[in-house]
Amino acid sequence: MIDTSTPQKDRVLIFDTTLRDGEQSPGATMSHSEKLEIAQLLDEMGVDIIEAGFPIASEGDFEAVRDIAKGARNAVICGLSRANTTDIDRCWEAVRHAARPRIHTFIGTSPLHRDIPKLSKDAMAEVIHATVSHARNLCDNVQWSPMDATRTEHDYLCRVVEIAIKAGASTINIPDTVGYTAPRESAALIAMLLERVPGADEVVFSTHCHNDLGMATANALAAVEAGARQIECTINGLGDVSGVSGFPVQYNKAIVGKNAFAHESGIHQDGMLKNAETFEIMRPEDIGLASTSLVMGKHSGRAALRAKLSELGFELGDNQLKDIFVRFKALADRKKEVYDDDLIALMRDSTAAEQSDRLSIKFLRVICGTEAPQSADLTLTVDGVDHQTTATGDGPVDATFKAVRALFPHEARLDLYQVHAVTEGTDAQATVSVRLEEDGRIVTGQSSDTDTVVASAKAYVNALNRLLIRRTKQAPDAGLRSVS
Ligand code: KIV
Repeated sequence: MIDTSTPQKDRVLIFDTTLRDGEQSPGATMSHSEKLEIAQLLDEMGVDIIEAGFPIASEGDFEAVRDIAKGARNAVICGLSRANTTDIDRCWEAVRHAARPRIHTFIGTSPLHRDIPKLSKDAMAEVIHATVSHARNLCDNVQWSPMDATRTEHDYLCRVVEIAIKAGASTINIPDTVGYTAPRESAALIAMLLERVPGADEVVFSTHCHNDLGMATANALAAVEAGARQIECTINGLGDVSGVSGFPVQYNKAIVGKNAFAHESGIHQDGMLKNAETFEIMRPEDIGLASTSLVMGKHSGRAALRAKLSELGFELGDNQLKDIFVRFKALADRKKEVYDDDLIALMRDSTAAEQSDRLSIKFLRVICGTEAPQSADLTLTVDGVDHQTTATGDGPVDATFKAVRALFPHEARLDLYQVHAVTEGTDAQATVSVRLEEDGRIVTGQSSDTDTVVASAKAYVNALNRLLIRRTKQAPDAGLRSVS
């Protein structure tokens, strides 16, 4: 097991903050079970540190961090807290259940951020000393971050980093909170801190880069070249995290996009057939794509389905297999060939269906075609009770969404509606993402089906279920909003 509490000069630690900074992205709310599932995967993958959430933010966040801490086998489990004892105590309450807990505390140190609490440089330095010391009295693994470090005056940054080290922080994270730096500057900042701050060689310097200018990866690598030994990141830059973030991964995204391993040019195809290394710098299996494409169909049996799902990383108990087998057969009846991506979409939908959702679609029939208006006949189950209506609209999706709104009135505004095909062919499953906004709360729902209107309806209802979860979370106070 790797000891991440002591500096390791030749090893870069991976700190995954999908569940904390990632979840703070508008629309990326995750349910309790989704968070636990992601944490378990990260732990199994060998991620060194998992930032599981922001325990003071809500009861739900607290419970997620606590339960992740209880379940973790290898990773250090970290929680975030602002620079006050209430936050830090709450964070400790949640992470202390982990075999290897870490408290991460931060304060905005740039002039803009010092101005919000109206703290002078000296006053803020005192707060940093007091809060890091408090955290260190509770936990022997403390990380400290000067938020907006890349816009903090260098002399002041050196001064506060030194104070945090003296107060007991063993990891100093340098965030580029607004995604504003460039690689040379990112490297120079780490080099400057390592050179100027007394005690810097006793701690791990970490880099936390936002991607506002598309430079996060380059900036993080430059920081590592200069001596940073921890990279903070999110899965796929929070692109479709096991299907729960609801943000589709763009096809041409580096490494994980669909096109990264697709070749259309004749020269490329010829080279690939002779030796894949001619045009690919890594193997699809290295990033979790299945190397074989054993296609399943309606004649495939239960054992084949279990083996295929296991190959894709889903280990199912007998009851779960029974349920997914029924869904698989229904899909195979509609679609001649069921590809790996279809099965992944099926698993994702069945996991979503297992959650204690308040709303679900019971029945949907649409009438559409050249003669307007199109109409939707919908039965929606709300808290166990069926409600039925027929609505008309400009197209079948519009009619369906109007029917949902009639049966479950809400003020949320549709922010985004996006459809993309999971596989190829006219019988491909469509994955639909729906983003809703209500009083500044943004949630995203997602669903897949060979029927695009059904997928749309389920995605809309999925977003509403997430909105209901969001509503129950207490509104974080102003201080929390400033954390990017
Ligand atoms: O981006 C940021 O500054 C942060 C800190 C809280 C580490 O997320």
